[in-house]
Amino acid sequence: MREPEASSLPRHIAIIMDGNGRWARRRLLPRQAGHRAGLSAARRVIESCVQHGIGALTLFAFSSENWQRPPPEVGSLMGLFMNALESEVAELHKNRVRIRFIGARAQFSTALQQGMHKAEQLTVDNTGLRLNVAAGYGGRWELLQAARQLASEVLAGRLRPEELDEPLLANALSLAGSPDPDLFIRTGGEQRISNFLLWQLAYTELYFTDTLWPDFDAVALQQALNWYTQRQRRFGRTPEQLESPGHA
Ligand code: IPE
Ligand code: IPE
Ligand code: MG
Repeated sequence: MREPEASSLPRHIAIIMDGNGRWARRRLLPRQAGHRAGLSAARRVIESCVQHGIGALTLFAFSSENWQRPPPEVGSLMGLFMNALESEVAELHKNRVRIRFIGARAQFSTALQQGMHKAEQLTVDNTGLRLNVAAGYGGRWELLQAARQLASEVLAGRLRPEELDEPLLANALSLAGSPDPDLFIRTGGEQRISNFLLWQLAYTELYFTDTLWPDFDAVALQQALNWYTQRQRRFGRTPEQLESPGHA
């Protein structure tokens, strides 16, 4: 299998890790077993991204809508989240991964909020992979909180409406400072965005695979990276403009 050129690697990959429940159902296991296997898949993919030297990885772990799942499933996901914070962070720190959580934190238990804060503080100076974990996250929630923040800046007289531009709005969002994702991956066969990074995915290459998240591994990631290298990213221009830049 051809390794993509280093320069054609995505700088930022965003993943909707979907299909844990179906993976478990096919094995006649409880959904929780699927989520546990999903955590192992996340660990493998993070390691692969570290090895590839990818700059940023954003994983959708729990959406704002997922709070509506049956309470026992939400409870088991929260338990898994707590275990992961206790058992994974040291190894990530050793690999120089910088961890950040994006999403509405207030809905999580105090212990989880403290665990997220501790992981971020521990790894804040790391210069390796930027790992963003979207938990309690929704793209509309994020845009709404940015709108509120900017509106209060205007009200306080610190910002005039006509000064508001794309960089200022992007800066009020959770992934301020990271380039927008170059590659989006959704496992599990559905072809939808499900309220993930609505602003940041504006020009992202979208890759959908039927592979269920617990089965996603380094080979599956390599396939997505190979697919990505075949894309011509035109950003509104014509293919001729891209082939001979002097043609612009
Ligand atoms: C994704 O897997 C994990 C979370 C949303 C927390 P699902 O639990 O959605 O798995 P399916 O879609 O039911 O197979
Ligand atoms: C999206 O998965 C959110 C996460 C993977 C965390 P869902 O399985 O909840 O998405 P929908 O609701 O089926 O679109
Ligand atoms: Mg799902």
